[in-house]
Amino acid sequence: MRINEEVIPNHENNYPLVFSPINIGPVRLKNRIVFPTWQVNYANTDGTVSDKLLKFYSALADGGCGLVFTGCAVVSSDTAAFDRVMRLDSDIYLPGLRKLFLEIENRGSVPGIQLIHYGRQALTSVTGCELIAPSPIPCPVMSRFEPNYKVREMTIADIHRVCNDFIAAAVRAAEAGAKVIEVHAAHGYLLNQFLSPYSNHRTDDYGGNTINRARLILQIIEGIKNKLDNRVAISLRVSGNEFVEGGLKPNDFKDLINLFENKGIDMLNVSAGVYESMERIVPPATLGDAPHVNIASELKQFSTVPVCAVGSIFSIGLAEEVIASGKAELIALGRAQVADPAIVNKSLLGQESDIRKCIKCNKCTFWTTGEAQMFCSVNPDYQRPKEIE
Ligand SMILES: Cc1cc2nc3c(=O)[nH]c(=O)nc-3n(C[C@H](O)[C@H](O)[C@H](O)COP(=O)(O)O)c2cc1C
Repeated sequence: MRINEEVIPNHENNYPLVFSPINIGPVRLKNRIVFPTWQVNYANTDGTVSDKLLKFYSALADGGCGLVFTGCAVVSSDTAAFDRVMRLDSDIYLPGLRKLFLEIENRGSVPGIQLIHYGRQALTSVTGCELIAPSPIPCPVMSRFEPNYKVREMTIADIHRVCNDFIAAAVRAAEAGAKVIEVHAAHGYLLNQFLSPYSNHRTDDYGGNTINRARLILQIIEGIKNKLDNRVAISLRVSGNEFVEGGLKPNDFKDLINLFENKGIDMLNVSAGVYESMERIVPPATLGDAPHVNIASELKQFSTVPVCAVGSIFSIGLAEEVIASGKAELIALGRAQVADPAIVNKSLLGQESDIRKCIKCNKCTFWTTGEAQMFCSVNPDYQRPKEIE
């Protein structure tokens, strides 16, 4: 559902804050709604962009979303947990990504991409490679999937290599036309593993105190900034509360955010949870609406860059309320936009009664039920593969 802005230049709407533009670093967004990265497993098996992915993201851009994060995209050849994840560890991915970012931009949205290394949350059966992590502590969830699950502690050479892989992937993404590059340091993946005392037991320069645990992330942000300067905005996604004993809590970010900002982040995307607390990554209905907004607002106290809140925000009205409360400047809607990619434009036009609502069944978390790809129970465009046949 595309809106011709020439026809509705100053449309009165009920959500003036949501529909006010905002700058994140060098990038201007037309509104405050973000599509948070979803690994939908729609890429081709070689990690290139498929027609199905093009359609998925084009629908979100058509629907009015201000910033569409694509991905996640894998930065190193030794890591993945899915067979159809987008990749950015080689130039062969550039033509497909160029097309994807252009499709999003031509529809009036800003294209972003999230960069990932899975660390101990990868699967050797997918990559054929040994798993690496800051410390050789198995992931309690992934180790149940593989009888021979084994993870080894990264050497300093591994750390430097992965750092360079993130920077090289960011450069490729910018070359292909991404305007916002998100470094994934949330949800228990490699950079989260480094940041957290729960998963990082190192005693060298990359472990121990807060700065050491943040060192790899800081080096990556600095490296991206040095290479790309203000050509792109840099977003950092963190789990503001890991919801595991001994894990990160909001107050642990007190001294960290300033460090990240000094290296050049332009936006802080605050999520929650790691694999052991999966219910925090995609919160079920039992946790109620917007259960993590207060975590975003706690981190916002330490931040000067725009903060994005996420988690069970299912309407533009609730997004407006959160921005009005001063708890976040940007609001990410995942399931709500997959259920109806036109939720933003329909809300802008006062057509809320036409919005197809997410029923919070969480069947979109395809990996928890062994399904091959993301599907949605209410959006006929994303049917379960068996139902298509
Ligand atoms: C199918 C699916 C895939 C996801 N993949 C990613 C991902 O690759 N990276 C990430 O940071 N978060 C990922 N998430 C988490 C979402 O970005 C988002 O934080 C989550 O859906 C909560 O937002 P919502 O309540 O608006 O759906 C995924 C969630 C789902 C349901």
